[in-house]
Amino acid sequence: MRFENRLVLSAMAGINDADFCRNQKAALVILGGFSADKTAMEAAKMAAMRGRKEFIFSEPLDGIEREIKNLKREKFAVNVRSGSLEGYMEVAEIVERYGGILEINAHCRQPEFVSAGCGEWLLFNPEKLLEITREVSKISTTFVKIRGSHPIDYERLASKIFSAGAKAIHIDAMIPNGGCNFSLISRISRYGPVIGNNSFTDIESGEKIIRSGARMASAARAVLKDMKFFEKMLRSGILSQPVEL
Ligand SMILES: Cc1cc2nc3c(=O)[nH]c(=O)nc-3n(C[C@H](O)[C@H](O)[C@H](O)COP(=O)(O)O)c2cc1C
Repeated sequence: MRFENRLVLSAMAGINDADFCRNQKAALVILGGFSADKTAMEAAKMAAMRGRKEFIFSEPLDGIEREIKNLKREKFAVNVRSGSLEGYMEVAEIVERYGGILEINAHCRQPEFVSAGCGEWLLFNPEKLLEITREVSKISTTFVKIRGSHPIDYERLASKIFSAGAKAIHIDAMIPNGGCNFSLISRISRYGPVIGNNSFTDIESGEKIIRSGARMASAARAVLKDMKFFEKMLRSGILSQPVEL
């Protein structure tokens, strides 16, 4: 898989729809996070009730397909939470028809999703995460988004995720009180292609993610602050390089 630069727009629930993503200068844009099945959608509705932005669709699969169609971009991923294996598989089938990538969300820490068996719940139930990764990888190109900062063996987990068929791990290498854990990015990059994430706010921080071993660097909040963020990051010789995952 070849990308024309090293930049990725990271998922933002309730924000990253087709219109928001379409003209971003990142080589890869990630739609969603979307909630694929009834369990995840109920969690999304509860999170929305307390003021979180969420994509609420009456028919989740139709809503996801509509956004993919409207995006009109060749390279894209779809970030998905689901309470069931079937939910991931059904979205993977849609994504595959449009030549995209399914990103399993093992990252979301909102309590409604965690208690529904979605998001970072999967980090603590790795057998389930690996089963989903194995099954979804048979259908579409699959990435797994994980969150750092937990007392778990990330290297062991990364190695198993790649063995289960994931083509890349997208890691939010957050440090609890702010900043990016570059050492964690380095350590898991030994096992396969990594998209490094957290606090990519300027050329220096983006290049540091790449120098740590990640093939690509993703940003979310910086794009909310400046819709031309990626355009500016392309002034970097490193971040503007084409890359193979
Ligand atoms: C408003 C908002 C919504 C988010 N929603 C999702 C999501 O649905 N799925 C996901 O994997 N990450 C989600 N994230 C996390 C981001 O993709 C990213 O990992 C995190 O913000 C750290 O990167 P940053 O420092 O560039 O913002 C969200 C972040 C924000 C700010």
